[in-house]
Amino acid sequence: MTDKTAGQGPPEQPPVVSIARLAEHVDKTVRLRGWLYNQRGSKKLNFLELRDGTGVVQCIAFKGDLTEELWETSGAVTQESSLDVVGQVRAHPKKPGVFEIGVEHITVIGKSDDYPISPKDHGTDFLMDHRHLWLRSRRQHSIIRIRHAIIQAIRTFFDSREFTLVDAPIFTPNACEGTSTLFETDYHGQPAFLTQSGQLYMEAASAAFGKAYCFGPTFRAEKSKTRRHLAEFWMVEPEVAFMDLDGDMQLAEDFLCAIASHVLETRIDELEQLGRDTSKLEAIRAPFPRITYHEAIEILQKAGHDAKPGDDFGGDEETVISSEFDRPVIVHRYPAALKAFYMKKDPENPELALCMDVLAPEGYGEIIGGGQREDSLETLVSAIERHSLPMPAFEWFLDLRRYGTFPHAGFGLGIERTVAWLCGLPHVRETIPFPRMLSRLSP
Ligand code: 4AD
Ligand code: MG
Repeated sequence: MTDKTAGQGPPEQPPVVSIARLAEHVDKTVRLRGWLYNQRGSKKLNFLELRDGTGVVQCIAFKGDLTEELWETSGAVTQESSLDVVGQVRAHPKKPGVFEIGVEHITVIGKSDDYPISPKDHGTDFLMDHRHLWLRSRRQHSIIRIRHAIIQAIRTFFDSREFTLVDAPIFTPNACEGTSTLFETDYHGQPAFLTQSGQLYMEAASAAFGKAYCFGPTFRAEKSKTRRHLAEFWMVEPEVAFMDLDGDMQLAEDFLCAIASHVLETRIDELEQLGRDTSKLEAIRAPFPRITYHEAIEILQKAGHDAKPGDDFGGDEETVISSEFDRPVIVHRYPAALKAFYMKKDPENPELALCMDVLAPEGYGEIIGGGQREDSLETLVSAIERHSLPMPAFEWFLDLRRYGTFPHAGFGLGIERTVAWLCGLPHVRETIPFPRMLSRLSP
């Protein structure tokens, strides 16, 4: 099959194909368009590694097959020049599934002089400043392809369970996750905040659709520089009517297993390219251990941490707790005082919230936060007062408790932390195409 979207050349030109589909064209002459990834040459042969976004293929220019001019062109192409190459597809003599191109014609579409990223080691700041070019490298390509597969798995999972996608707004009049990380903007003369979470809107959506989810960018003015925090990150947030905390934990477990198995099924080459130990991903199977907040405190104390009941967990604590397990661990029932205003209290101990965090293994820490929501109008009103939140901004949210209130629960999964974990990356900055962090707004 030819790639119709890439457009066709003049009638005498062979079809434009993608590198990923070369297997369908063995022994035929095809046309490829892409960029020069790498090059080496000898007296009679030039080896050009061409990448087109779907893969990388070695194009072999043999002096004896080419005119003087084409031979010279093949030897003078510089890194990241864009090229149009016509040649015959040959199966690699020794490696099954690998193909080569015997170059018949080569045209430089756009020359690239002094490409700033060379195969040598560059510092992270340099690479981050050149993120727009760095995305072309094999490692970044693998990460973003795995991110794509994760998102694909998320959509398929919710589709197969009768969820409706309900997009939440980006401009919001109120805080969802505390007022300390709000990005304020001017909305036609009135203050507005970039959304921290679509949850409150998904609560409305769950009353309309039963099962709903949103998936979009969320924003937090995090003041700390850590390997887990971005100012702009993508979150997927399911919300389900008539589901309790147990159902929420079950949903999170099924969801993460589905994501991990889809990534293993569809992105094994990329995982290998990143040097990921895939046995760690194969271990992501149900059942996930479920421990209470107090059991988590005991784990910390046994590990020599001076944690005491009532303390919140930061990255260090999560690393210690999650390192005890070979698969994600669900920590539930944190002290209500540590959690957001909308959390329902545990009827068996009102000091605790019916909430849960899922901590990823290998020290990755929290990837999911969620729980059961307060469904009593009176209790929610007092919680909003106690948190000193502006009541008028929450009137619409209170309506959900006025008109047919219902038990419901949900959670939010951070995409970038999930990508970091599944790819085995030490920092979230490479998990999103263009990261926004405390000290980075460009490119
Ligand atoms: O635990 P959080 O704050 O939960 C909520 O926002 C709920 N309203 C979600 C819900 O119940 N619908 O955030 C959820 C997840 C975290 O577990 C983490 O994976 C990710 O969002 N996250 C971040 N990821 C990157 N950078 C940040 N600054 C993040 N803050 C949260
Ligand atoms: Mg959280």
